[in-house]
Amino acid sequence: MLKSLTTLTMCMFLLIVTNACRGYTSKKPPIHLITNMDTQPKYKPYGESSWFINNMTMRSHLENVISRGNLKENTHLFFGKVNGEVCDLFPDSIEINEKLLLRGQERYSISCSQCHGKLGDGKGLVGLRMPIRPSNLYTEYLCDKSNGHIFDVITNGIRLMPAHKIQIEVNDRWAIVAYIRALQLYNNPELYNNSNNNGLPYNFSNFVKNILN
Ligand code: HEC
Repeated sequence: MLKSLTTLTMCMFLLIVTNACRGYTSKKPPIHLITNMDTQPKYKPYGESSWFINNMTMRSHLENVISRGNLKENTHLFFGKVNGEVCDLFPDSIEINEKLLLRGQERYSISCSQCHGKLGDGKGLVGLRMPIRPSNLYTEYLCDKSNGHIFDVITNGIRLMPAHKIQIEVNDRWAIVAYIRALQLYNNPELYNNSNNNGLPYNFSNFVKNILN
């Protein structure tokens, strides 16, 4: 009696072990005794759907329809341009203060410094390996360029430099522009003072000292 009980337990054990481990890969979902919501009918991106005439699950944008919050009427804020021309000043909604510069510094370190270098000299580790070197951001040429131009370069890229409009949110792009002004003032004060002040507040140099010294 005891012997057959042991054999039965052994058999049960083997059955469970061999069933749990199928021993081969499978594209089928694992066996779930209690499925919860792990497996459920759903449409995946780029999948097929017989519901729509073109058999595609994903829908394209409707022509002339703008989703809520995406009406970019303020061209100064969203494109750095007014009447198609790049703008010298910062948009009214961007307040230049130490907090903005700190944000710009953080975003610059994440998205730009690998190419343009921590201090903007164009000698980031990735930049040193590029066939065309990233620009030094405090040359006379760039100190003289408008804020709108720098914003446009970040947004749409320029020549070999990639666009960053998808990765960096609008206000953060302006924060980076302000931080580039700070780098110019820090690295090249003489040149900077001779150029257009681009609507920076009178105490801008104090913020810069606090952040970069
Ligand atoms: C993948 C490397 C790379 C990254 C990341 C990068 N840049 Fe550049 N950037 C370049 C290169 C290369 C050039 C020079 C392009 C050329 O002359 O072909 C350049 C040029 C520029 C210029 C000069 C534009 C002009 O008028 O000539 C500015 C300003 C600039 N970058 C700002 C930025 C800022 C701000 C960021 C971060 C948001 C950034 N870049 C991120 C590679 C990069």
